[in-house]
Amino acid sequence: SETHYHEFVVQSTPIKRLCTSRSILTVNGQFPGPTIEVRDGDSLVIKVINRALYNVTIHWHGIRQRGTQWADGPEYVTQCPIQPGAAYTYRFSIQNQDGTLWWHAHSRWIRATIYGALVIYPKLGVPYPFQNHPDKDFPVILGEWWDTDILGIMRQALFSGAAPNVSDAYTINGQPGDFYRCSSLDTATFYVDAGDTVLLRIINAALNQQLFFTVANHMLTVVGADAAYNKPFTTRVIMVGPGQTTNVLLTADQPPARYYMATRAYATAQGAPFDNTTATAILEYNSIPCHSRKGSSYTPILPRLPPYNDTATVASFTSQFRSLSSSDAQIPTDIDENLFITVGLGFYNCIPSPTCQGPNATRFASSMNNVSFVLPRRASLLQAYYQSIPGVYTTDFPPVPPIQFDYTGNVPRALWQPVRGTKLYKLKYGSKVQVVFQDTGIFSTEDHPIHLHGHQFYVVGQGFGNFNPSRDSTNFNLNDPPERNTIGVPVGGWAAIRFVADNPGVWLMHCHIDAHLTWGLAMAFLVDNGPGLLQSVDRPPLDLPQC
Ligand code: C2O
Repeated sequence: SETHYHEFVVQSTPIKRLCTSRSILTVNGQFPGPTIEVRDGDSLVIKVINRALYNVTIHWHGIRQRGTQWADGPEYVTQCPIQPGAAYTYRFSIQNQDGTLWWHAHSRWIRATIYGALVIYPKLGVPYPFQNHPDKDFPVILGEWWDTDILGIMRQALFSGAAPNVSDAYTINGQPGDFYRCSSLDTATFYVDAGDTVLLRIINAALNQQLFFTVANHMLTVVGADAAYNKPFTTRVIMVGPGQTTNVLLTADQPPARYYMATRAYATAQGAPFDNTTATAILEYNSIPCHSRKGSSYTPILPRLPPYNDTATVASFTSQFRSLSSSDAQIPTDIDENLFITVGLGFYNCIPSPTCQGPNATRFASSMNNVSFVLPRRASLLQAYYQSIPGVYTTDFPPVPPIQFDYTGNVPRALWQPVRGTKLYKLKYGSKVQVVFQDTGIFSTEDHPIHLHGHQFYVVGQGFGNFNPSRDSTNFNLNDPPERNTIGVPVGGWAAIRFVADNPGVWLMHCHIDAHLTWGLAMAFLVDNGPGLLQSVDRPPLDLPQC
């Protein structure tokens, strides 16, 4: 195994998109940021130098960080932010994981432009567990672009009382593609030889949008997601939620030509605005004649994408995921902790003013079990735990909702208004945990991609409507459930996960739609090793940023 050293300079860089140039935050002047390539078992040492005017942190999305809890990255959870002019070095290793992960800023909405791929190859000499060793390997990062300052959009979400502006374009590897103004000269292009099999590592780095993705005339074979393999299956279109990754194999078996790859919204919230444009990239066969190459007037072949609200296509796609190995001994069967967590929107009452434009003079809120999560400011949660700093958090996160109700229908008025708090839920180290997430129908039903830090979990069940314990838990898949780090809770439905709390520390669990996260759709687990803790969470690194 190897140790890889990187330097990430966070800086303001002028970038031109959609006809205008604007300064955005980048890493090393690149947008998207640098791709990190490692093998399972390797170590990483990444010095992040903040030359921007804003606080920042970097999160290594999907890395378990066992024994390196201080390197996880969410601000005020495992560290205080890196202040302008300061630096912090993240040190961690890849432990029995390979596939596609990614890294992104985990500080307010700064991840809108600070993100990149983290590609983990299998250990040297270990082949991929599927046939068709890929000839080429491409990160395909889906994102969103805003024409205006992203922190302004975030403030709009926080204070205007209404939903924030939607993005001005979707992007593939940072480029909107041929259907947006002033963009066609820079459309991302992937070159293949006829007969090649390529591995597309698709990452949804969008801030607030679930996305469909497809390639004209080519079948996609899904082989992995969130750095876990699955039993391969073929599909024409995939859906990726913010935070998720999907590995697909594509064989260049069509007549040599140029084919569009396309991405567009999958949107389920009623009445919420979204951008219904399409971002494209080009799959170009090397053998095509010069006159039809990039830059020529020859038009690539366009694929069809499902309608923006095609939940049936998403459900049938999602239901095909099965982990590679059946009867994996890791899947917890006896459960020590059984949580039922509602995920949804709500409102705060506020004094009527321009900042309260929600229904009946309210402001948006989001919550889990009616608790709207508030980040601390004085110290990070992990620091408060490690150093026993009182008053930073409480451990009374409710394991079940405060009131039973029809989650997809009638909702008592009391639940429209969540309580605010920094509430953690304590898990004994080693405990076997089940969490059932239930979307609520407050204001509107919606998909929520829920991400858990520090762990991979098994998705044992999923469905629409209210979760019914006696009916639904007997149908759980305990044989070959897919392993993930981000699960899409279906619109008006539920999803059940299981994991072993085998990583001492403080781990955030949140909706990966930043608008929802900002409104409070988060909580954190405190995995406590009792008196043994000091052997499990190492001392904080000397350069750990202070608040
Ligand atoms: Cu990819 Cu807490 O995030």
